[in-house]
This record gives sequence, structure tokens and C-alpha cells, in this order.
Amino acid sequence: MNIFIRDIKNYLDKEVTVRGWVYNMRSSGKISFLQIRDGSGFIQAIVSEPEVTKKVWEDAHRITLESSIIASGKVSKHPRHDIYELQLKDLKIVQIAEEYPIGKKEHGPDFLLDLRHLWLRSRKQWAIQRVRNTVINATYEWMNNNGFIKIDAPILTPAACEGVGTLFEVDYFDLGKAYLSQSGQLYIEAAIMSHGRVFDFGPTFRAEKSKTRRHLTEFWMMDAEMAFVEHDENLKIQEELISHIVKRCLEINGEEMKILERDTKPLEKIKPPFYRMTHAEAIKKLHQLGSDIAADDDLGGDDETLLTEKLDKPVFIEKYPAKVKAFYMKRDPNNPDIVLCADLLAPEGYGEIIGGSQREDDYETLLLRLKENNLPREAYEWYLDLRRYGSVPHSGFGYGLERIVGWITGIRHIRETIPFPRLLNRLTP
Ligand code: 4AD
Ligand code: MG
Repeated sequence: MNIFIRDIKNYLDKEVTVRGWVYNMRSSGKISFLQIRDGSGFIQAIVSEPEVTKKVWEDAHRITLESSIIASGKVSKHPRHDIYELQLKDLKIVQIAEEYPIGKKEHGPDFLLDLRHLWLRSRKQWAIQRVRNTVINATYEWMNNNGFIKIDAPILTPAACEGVGTLFEVDYFDLGKAYLSQSGQLYIEAAIMSHGRVFDFGPTFRAEKSKTRRHLTEFWMMDAEMAFVEHDENLKIQEELISHIVKRCLEINGEEMKILERDTKPLEKIKPPFYRMTHAEAIKKLHQLGSDIAADDDLGGDDETLLTEKLDKPVFIEKYPAKVKAFYMKRDPNNPDIVLCADLLAPEGYGEIIGGSQREDDYETLLLRLKENNLPREAYEWYLDLRRYGSVPHSGFGYGLERIVGWITGIRHIRETIPFPRLLNRLTP
């Protein structure tokens, strides 16, 4: 019977067949061991010369690293450890792999990224992608259970959402230039007047000139937008969502966390409420920590690391100076130089995982903001319409999937959290 390795414990002492790849092997005299992976898990097959035919014994020794096989045998339990093994009876070779380029020895990041299509098979990369899958599923789960409708935002767009400096241009037939979406936010704002609470989830693009461990040029964002939600409630929704995501990863991905050697203690503390700190307080704190950041500067990656290295929970940095944030953010009624925004910084030094704000809902004020930011009114006329017809106070946020996966898995460079990373200097494979 064909089974998946993850179900192996249900088949103790039974004959089963697993189909997969040999990722390691060793041999000593009349016994040899094949480490098999089938996507759902890992198992060791024991090949004992007296127990198998001559052909199977010979085939077992023809196998090279990453050869694909179909292996049958009896499931046994390791006498001491809680580990299941396969006592091999029959073996079919599907394909003998050529000499595999990724070996046991240490490889540099560029070598591995060039071979990303193969590197994805390694145990650690397997574990990261499984956590990513849980983060995605947990997001859908929470959003669906909390009254959000998924609205798909377009990728080809006529104007910027997050500043003209990081737009990717595309020639768009007779209509001139189009741009790859930096965030679906503006479009899902339109959908709240139809559905109240909405989210999108898809690839976003930034022509980032920054070569840091936190920046990709193509990454996945989940934007959420809520009608009649103001600044404080916006943060409450975010901390509930993030706590749910972390909880699900702990419940589902115990094995993966072990493979990644991720200490899960800090993740067990991720429960609402998260910390809150204004931008002004963050600047003060950074000065105490030795930084010389100016009072009205945006926070850089190093500042975020400095602020969160010793924290045990995420922190919202609220109310940034308006001049370092996007045109659509609503000003603080108590201080027009400040916007009602918050960036959520992950603990342990992982930096910003969410950017969000209350939105400017007044037509005249928004028009003024477009002018102040030198944005062409024509391209945003439809967005202004949302303030002409039934405008309401509303807020939203966007999370970076790779940043969240990086934090939860403990992977420092987010290029390992996306299957095929796109970086300033990398477009392949
Ligand atoms: O903070 P950002 O730029 O916010 C927006 O785009 C808003 N329109 C979202 C909204 O309010 N709906 O981006 C949101 C998140 C960041 O917090 C970060 O996690 C991630 O997207 N992000 C990146 N991740 C990887 N590589 C990059 N170059 C990223 N830029 C942003
Ligand atoms: Mg941001």
C-alpha cells in the first residue's frame, strides 16, 4: 500500500510502500541504510543482505544521492528512540540521479541561491516552506473567522501606492506606462464600501535599491482594510491576527522548528497586548541606546534591530512624523505634523513586519496631500471618489509574509523564506 511517511506510525508491523528520494545513505558490510524523503516526512530504510533478493541488494548500492525510488517493506520501531524505520523488502529505482551538486560540506549563499531549485529539497528549506504555508493558512483562517472578505487587487496599476521611488515600470500597449503593484491597499479601500472588512494577499513589487537581509524586490503582502475602524482598534486587530499566526505555527510545526533549531520559548509569549511606543518615545530610547538618529527621521533597519533585540513581544511604533510616511495617512487631530500610523516591529531584532495607518477620509484634505506629494490628480481621481461617496473613518495595514516567516523560523535573511527570491542582483533561477 502506498503511504505518506507522515502517517507511518499507523502502520507498525505492516507492509507499506513509500515513494520519494534518497537524501543520504551509508553502508557497512551486510547492512545498508537509505534515508528517504517523500515530502511529508523522513524515514530510514534498512537494507539487510540476507533479507532481500540479490537484485534489490545491488540496486540499493547503485543508488546515488537524490535518486528517486519506490521502496517497500515492513514498518518497525527503533528499539530505543521514538523513531519508525522501514525494513526494506523491495526497491524500484525511478531514476538514478547524476552526481548531486549540493553536498554535505558548507556552501556559500550564492552557490546555494544559484541552485535554489535543488536547495529547496534540503531539510531546513523544507521546514521553512512548511512554516510559510502555515502562516498563509492561519492568516486566511483568522481573516475568515473575523468577518473579512478576500478581494483580489490588481498587479498592473497606473500609479504608486508607496512612493514613486520604488516603482517597477512596464510598457502597457497604447496606454503608456503601467507599474507593478507595491501594495493592494488603495484598491481594497474601495472594497470596504461594498464589504466592510476586506483583505488581499498576493505578490507585491518594490524596485528597492537596498541590499539588506530584509528586502526583496518581489515579496508577498497581505493588506487588510476595515470601515469604521480607527487607529487604536486597527492595532488591536493586528495583534490578534499575529498572535493567532504564531499560535498555529507552534501547534502545527513542532518538527519544523526542531529542524530549524528555533527556540520556541520566545514565540510562546506572543499574545495580546503587544507593546506600544510613539515614534518620539522610540527616538528617545534610541538615543539612550547610543544612536544619533534625528528627531524627525524614519527608523532604519538598524534602529529597528536596536529597539527590539531585547524585547519579548512585538512593539507598535505609532505616530510617525507625517513627512516620512505615505500621503494617504490621516493626521493626528492633536498634532498635524504627526500621522495616525503604526509599524509593528517583531521582537528579537527582526524589524518591521507590518505597516499600517488610519486613512485620510476627507476629500479636500486628501486632495491637498496629493498636491504636497506631487502626485498626479488624474491617476488618483477614482481614489478621491471614495471620499466623495459615503466616506467613513477607516484603517488598515499590510504585512510582509517573508518578514513574518523570517521571524517565526529564526532565519536572519529573508531570501530563504520565499521559494525563488528576487533580489537587486538576482533574477534566477
Ligand atoms: O510598510 P509598507 O510599505 O506598507 C504598505 O505598503 C501599506 N500600503 C500597507 C497597508 O497599509 N495596507 O509595507 C508593508 C509591509 C512591511 O511592513 C514589510 O513587512 C513588508 O511589507 N515589506 C517588504 N518585505 C520584503 N521586502 C521589501 N522590499 C518590503 N517592503 C515592505
Ligand atoms: Mg513600512
